[in-house]
Order: sequence, then structure tokens, then C-alpha cells
Amino acid sequence: MNTLRGRRSAFPLSWDDGTGDGIVHDRDCQLALWTIYELSYRGFADVDPDLEWDVEVVGLRRTLETRFERELRSATRTRVTSQLDQEGNIGDIVLGMAADDQGPRLSSYLRRQATADQMREYLRERSVQQLKESDPQAFLLPRMSGAAKVALAEVQYDEFGAGRPEALHQALFAQTLAAVGLDPAYGAYVDQVSALSLASANVMSLFALNRRLVPVGVGHFAAFEASSSTPSRRIAAGLERLGLPDAIPYFDEHVEADAVHEQIAARDVCGAMVAEDPGVVGEIVFGAACALHLDELFADELLGRWHPADGELVAGPLGGMAS
Ligand SMILES: [Fe+2]
Ligand SMILES: [Fe+2]
Repeated sequence: MNTLRGRRSAFPLSWDDGTGDGIVHDRDCQLALWTIYELSYRGFADVDPDLEWDVEVVGLRRTLETRFERELRSATRTRVTSQLDQEGNIGDIVLGMAADDQGPRLSSYLRRQATADQMREYLRERSVQQLKESDPQAFLLPRMSGAAKVALAEVQYDEFGAGRPEALHQALFAQTLAAVGLDPAYGAYVDQVSALSLASANVMSLFALNRRLVPVGVGHFAAFEASSSTPSRRIAAGLERLGLPDAIPYFDEHVEADAVHEQIAARDVCGAMVAEDPGVVGEIVFGAACALHLDELFADELLGRWHPADGELVAGPLGGMAS
């Protein structure tokens, strides 16, 4: 950020490409990537907006993205391969992947056991991606066509409030943050959240801002939607248990909405893309696998932070995302 602030003329930016290992957990790399991506979203008051397309900045972005994508492909290879060996249409595959997910039961913990401070910590970590909810996927739309585009726009219409500013999902999440005593300002916690929380947000931009990765972004989005409804119900119950009712509307909204969104995203968006080009199945599955992989890591991270000795005891299906 300090490198970008006040910068006008080109000077070399670089990053040690290293071995290509561990970028998901590398906070410096993820924060750098988040900062560069942000130039394509809302930007920064004290950074020249022309730097969005600065050759050196874009070059650094590509260096980080290359490592990020390589690591994700390696980490999800087994999961992707096992899915591609099975029969079935892409909608069934993506929904099945989300249903079979064996990640830690973060949402169950939040429902039954989390303290108010732990719930706040979860919400703070999620704020980086939820306060820009569906913004990355909006970049997918102009890169798509036909029935898949129409179906994605249908989901996005809901995500962006269905014509009602007060129902904008980003705004509902901001309301949740304020209701639990956290700062609802966009990017307020970017300097405090974990590398993994940044990575979970950055992966959406990685897929949406690189046109060759559109099917991956679609697969990620579908798995994200398919991993949201049940966890949202659990988190809403946890907030109720903790006496934080004003924080609930965001999650209540996702119980109903994402039960529908997951079907549209998996069957209509992914289905139409595959009907148009059967060759994209592997990339859609890769995207779905990335969503589930990062969600598992996130749940492991938080449960490990809260219960380092008995994190294994709460392992089970679905960490949970709201989208
Ligand atoms: Fe949403
Ligand atoms: Fe949704």
C-alpha cells in the first residue's frame, strides 16, 4: 500500500517468486494481491487510480496470481480428479461436492458453542469478502453469453438487493457487523484478518478478472452458493443464542435465498456453460473444489485458534459460507 501511495511514474515492483509454496497462508502476498485487486473495485483515496493498469503493478499481480493458481490446482487435484471420474451432469456434481464436503463443522460450532467474542472474530474475518459480496462475480457477466449469463444475472439481482438498497447483501452484512459492535466500513479489517481470509476474497477476483478462468469462477460461485443455506441457518441460531438479533437478518436472508441460488448456480449457470462447451467441466469442478478447499482451511484455522487441543472433535461436514 505504501508503495502505491503517492506513486505516479513507473518504477520496478517485484516479488520473490520463491518455490510457489504456501501463498494461501502468506499474509504479505495476500494483502498485496488484495490491495492490487482493490484498484479494480473501489480504490483508495490516496492512490492514483491510473495505477489500476500500470504495467509494473499488473506484472506484480500476475506474479502473485500465477503462484496462487498453481497452489490451488495442486491442492485440489485429487478432489477434482475423483469428481471427473464420476458420471452425472455438472449440476449434480457441484451440488454433490458441496453436500459431501468433509470440512470442519464451523457453523455448528457457531450455533451451539461460540462465545460472543468468537462470533465477532468469525464475522470480522469474513468481512473482507462479505462487504464486497458478489462484486467479483459481476465481472464474470460481460465475459459470458446466453443462458448461463441470464441465470447468473438472476442470482446477482438478488445479491445486489433485488431493486431495494436496504436488501443489498453487502449492506446486510455491514448491518451485522455494526450489530455486534464491529466497524462496518469497507476494508476496515483488512490489516487484521488472516492470510486465509484475504485469500478467500482474492480467489474470487483471481477467477473473475482473468477471462480464461471464467468457468472456474462460475464453479467457485456455484459451490459457494451451495455451501451457504444450512450454515446460515446455524449461524442465525447462534446469534439468537448470544442475544444478537440485529445481526441475524443477513443470515436469515441467505437461508431462503441460497437454497434457490444453489440450484440456479449449479444447474442453470454451470449447466448452460457445459451445454455450450463440454470442455469446461474440469474447470468448473476445479472452481468448486477451490471454494470447498478454502472453506475447510478457514474452518480449521478458526476452530484451531479457539480449541487447539480438540479441534478434531468438531470435524464434520461444511464450514459454511454465505453468499
Ligand atoms: Fe448473498
Ligand atoms: Fe446467494
